[in-house]
Amino acid sequence: MPINFYEKEKIFTLNTKSTTYAFGLFEDVFLVHIYWGKRINKFNSIKNILPYAERSFTTASYDLTGGVTNDTLPMEFPVYGNADLRGPAFHAEYADGSAITKLEYEGHKIYKGKKPLEGLPATYTESDDEVESIEIELKDKLTGMTVMLQYSVYNELDAITRSVRIINNGSQTIKLKKVMSANVDMQGCNYDMIHLWGAWGRERFEERRPLLHGIMEVDSKRGSSSHHHNPFVCFADKNTTENAGNAYGLSLVYSGNFVAGAEADSFDTTRAYIGINSFGFGWNLNPEQEFQSPEAVLVYSAKGIGEMSRIYHRLYRTRLCRGKWRDKERPVLVNNWEATYFDFNEEKILSIAERAKEIGIELFVLDDGWFGKRNNDNCSLGDWVVNYDKLPHGIDGLANSVNKIGLKFGLWFEPEMVSPDSDLYRSHPDWCIHVNGRDRSEGRHQYILDLTRQDVCNYIIESVNAILQSANIEYVKWDMNRNMAEIGSDLLQPEQQCEFTHRYILGLYSVLETITSKNPNILFESCSGGGGRFDPGMLYYMPQTWTSDDSDAIERLYIQHGTSIVYPLSCMGAHVSAVPNHQVGRTTPISTRGNVAMMGAFGYELDFTKLNDEDITVVKEQVTQYKEIGEVLHKGDFYRLKSPMEDKMAVWEVVSEDKQTVVVMFVNILGEANGPFVNIRLEGLEDGAVYKEEKTGEEYTGEFLQNMGIYRRRDGDFTSEYIIYKKVV
Ligand code: GLA
Repeated sequence: MPINFYEKEKIFTLNTKSTTYAFGLFEDVFLVHIYWGKRINKFNSIKNILPYAERSFTTASYDLTGGVTNDTLPMEFPVYGNADLRGPAFHAEYADGSAITKLEYEGHKIYKGKKPLEGLPATYTESDDEVESIEIELKDKLTGMTVMLQYSVYNELDAITRSVRIINNGSQTIKLKKVMSANVDMQGCNYDMIHLWGAWGRERFEERRPLLHGIMEVDSKRGSSSHHHNPFVCFADKNTTENAGNAYGLSLVYSGNFVAGAEADSFDTTRAYIGINSFGFGWNLNPEQEFQSPEAVLVYSAKGIGEMSRIYHRLYRTRLCRGKWRDKERPVLVNNWEATYFDFNEEKILSIAERAKEIGIELFVLDDGWFGKRNNDNCSLGDWVVNYDKLPHGIDGLANSVNKIGLKFGLWFEPEMVSPDSDLYRSHPDWCIHVNGRDRSEGRHQYILDLTRQDVCNYIIESVNAILQSANIEYVKWDMNRNMAEIGSDLLQPEQQCEFTHRYILGLYSVLETITSKNPNILFESCSGGGGRFDPGMLYYMPQTWTSDDSDAIERLYIQHGTSIVYPLSCMGAHVSAVPNHQVGRTTPISTRGNVAMMGAFGYELDFTKLNDEDITVVKEQVTQYKEIGEVLHKGDFYRLKSPMEDKMAVWEVVSEDKQTVVVMFVNILGEANGPFVNIRLEGLEDGAVYKEEKTGEEYTGEFLQNMGIYRRRDGDFTSEYIIYKKVV
């Protein structure tokens, strides 16, 4: 059984294939954290194993024996208002203005399978046998409030999910101010914190910083998960590397404001946490109502950061992403954004599509600029009506022509937005996020629609669906191009205004659920000025995300490297674009641009009619190669053999699910005069097996490739290579 309660020892253990997460009942009342790490099958009694001591100048709120102070107990779900003066996971205000909560254990329930989370994306199961769950009921006796801690254990996939449900059983409104999805009071504080930071055009750069005493956290206050930080954090031992050592990952299945971090206290314990950002957040929980937190996904790896990533990849690829396209090979696409920007007409689009067909491309995506009078980014968002000046035969006519050429047709939308210069805004100026009497700041000349309103959500659903039903559209790019400011809604009561950002995300999720389930055959890709909302919440609805607006192959090494810490290659939209690159002006060979983009959901973002014959030949080879190995890349095990952050080169390896094919992709950043050889040792192979390199026909054993490895030099700027090995014995 993955989940056990040992009555005598007062300990709960949650076991996956190779890990254990344990908590227990302290004095039969308080839920304390015991352990998270490598699998342990037997624990002694809680009394004998919990590391705590009497401490001077600390307070014990309750009648605990042995001089125990709450301030040093490792708590499973710490609350505000007692003598634990570290940061709490929960903070609420009650009708009398007090904010003291005392959570006592009431009972628990263990069951097979995993319940969906009301209104929120979450990991799921295909059969109840895959997962066991436990709900721990904690009660605040004075108010009658119940806090249900929910855990699910993916035994085979080696991951544990957590979330919290608050139930108001009392007769007065409870004001929730902070509800973390997960809190883990870990022993020791000698960790490094690894997180993914950035900005537009340089999202999810990996950063590793030593945890110091005090608080270190990353967050978003922007209304979306953001370009700036990702809802993920990892704590690793100092000596943890890609392929060895302890790594503890916390990832949040949520697309709005979040916080993730840790407090290293004065007794060298670490309180790690992840959840909705309490900045600007509040929730009025009326009697009989429930509040469900988003889901946190906890992954522990004893084999380094790489193994942690592979666990996230498997789980998110197979039990978070959904729908027809989850397991299917993605079509190779061409998107016209960088090829034409707003300056296109039907003739131009068809000329690119025709060339694309000759090359072997499978899907044409028409990006921004097809609706209203949108010839620049000043206008028309919200007016989802085709621009017949540009497209005289409408979207339907264009889709038919593209289909006749032999390609699928896809379309760009930015449904959450409204331009001040739009018919929608002129008729509904109150539909955007705003506070009467205050400024309405514009971002990219646009406002955000108020998705806390049902009428606005209905408008989005109806207008997007009308277009989707009017033509043979087989792919949608769902964009979102600004942050929130001056937040407020006309329809929310004054005391509910603090609920806005979370309600917006719930509104968004309900819109996405409706549109994606009504259109099960469409491949959806999410986007937010590139990767401004690349998070597990969006992946539940849309199995891929446009990784970044920066399409330069070298910058993409850093971006895709960081993104791969949590997210699988199948989720990362990656395209070959023109040179000099439009974002950084760099010229890289077409081969390198292709090789880097193939390590994602592959496509092109350039005007094929402008490529010379030599490049066209290379592109044709790339498309053929991707069709052969795309499935291996998307479903295989991914290894970061060299990091562009440290090694001045990126070497990525994928081993297919059936272990028959191994792909190694090597990019050198800058050439070096008379440089040393760089040793690249492969991973994930079978020692005794023999692998044949496709290009040379040379055969090597697995143990050779993993221990002796191969050698390359840093020759030339931006050079790259794809090496494919097939297992022969
Ligand atoms: C965003 C996207 C781009 C493109 C433009 C269109 O920036 O990230 O890929 O779709 O919008 O306006």
